[in-house]
Amino acid sequence: MTDTPVAKPARRLDAFFYIETVTWVRHWTESLFSFRTTRSPELRFESGQFVMVGLQLPDGRPLVRAYSIASSTEDKELEFYSIKVPDGPLTSRLQHIKVGDQVLVGKKPTGTLVLTGLRPGKRLYLVGTGTGLAPWLSLVLDPEVYARFEAVVVTHTVREVGDLSYRDFFESELVKDPRVGASAAAKLRYYPSVTREPFEHNGRITDLITSGKLFQDLGAPPLDPKVDRLMLCGSPDFLTDMKAILAERGYEEGAVATAGDYVLEKAFVS
Ligand code: A2P
Repeated sequence: MTDTPVAKPARRLDAFFYIETVTWVRHWTESLFSFRTTRSPELRFESGQFVMVGLQLPDGRPLVRAYSIASSTEDKELEFYSIKVPDGPLTSRLQHIKVGDQVLVGKKPTGTLVLTGLRPGKRLYLVGTGTGLAPWLSLVLDPEVYARFEAVVVTHTVREVGDLSYRDFFESELVKDPRVGASAAAKLRYYPSVTREPFEHNGRITDLITSGKLFQDLGAPPLDPKVDRLMLCGSPDFLTDMKAILAERGYEEGAVATAGDYVLEKAFVS
């Protein structure tokens, strides 16, 4: 046997993570950035799932957090959208990554923001706050979303206009996508809203839903559990408030094993 103590941690890491290389980094603001990595051809996931991502510490231990995959299942690379928490154990380090650096990507993507968690419906609302936009970036590139729904609405609520990362993707790039561009042009509406400075749509999405302003702006009827499906991703408080709003309207939460009228996932931060 040639086992040595130094080889052991590396072998254990291999059992759980792929070691991928950073191919692209974009800093949107002082507190938001995105990055892409190589993707092991063995890594399979469903649009909307998350995976553990992070760094190997100098002592060999992994430091990872859950990240929604923000790229299409067909893409050769993986994309992630992250907040930068100044004292966050992971993101205080991860925000400094550069092209060519190595990151750990978990071998087991999972999560509830998947199409199988939803009953059939007419309209799909993808409701995100902050980095809770990430899973929608994968879902809107999935042809199955447009096959299942007549209309798709992506809402993104942030504090300041500058935090509306990916606005250009939704407003001009997506319709040029060779696989889903035509479907997105016909069916998808992007609805950004800002809470702490003037913008074309102001206010928390919870308030825009309860006041009916969202539906007025979209020219759509108010939420109806018979036909309107939702996926939610954002802060715990946002999820609590949305659950109460949906429960009042007779909505039932779904899970991967039992489809419902809506599914949710916390946007992970630290
Ligand atoms: P607000 O500015 O009123 O707090 P954060 O940057 O803290 O993650 O927040 C992202 C967005 O989510 C902000 O626009 C914030 O609005 C909004 N938000 C925070 N809490 C809730 C909530 N409980 N319900 C709906 N939106 C919320």
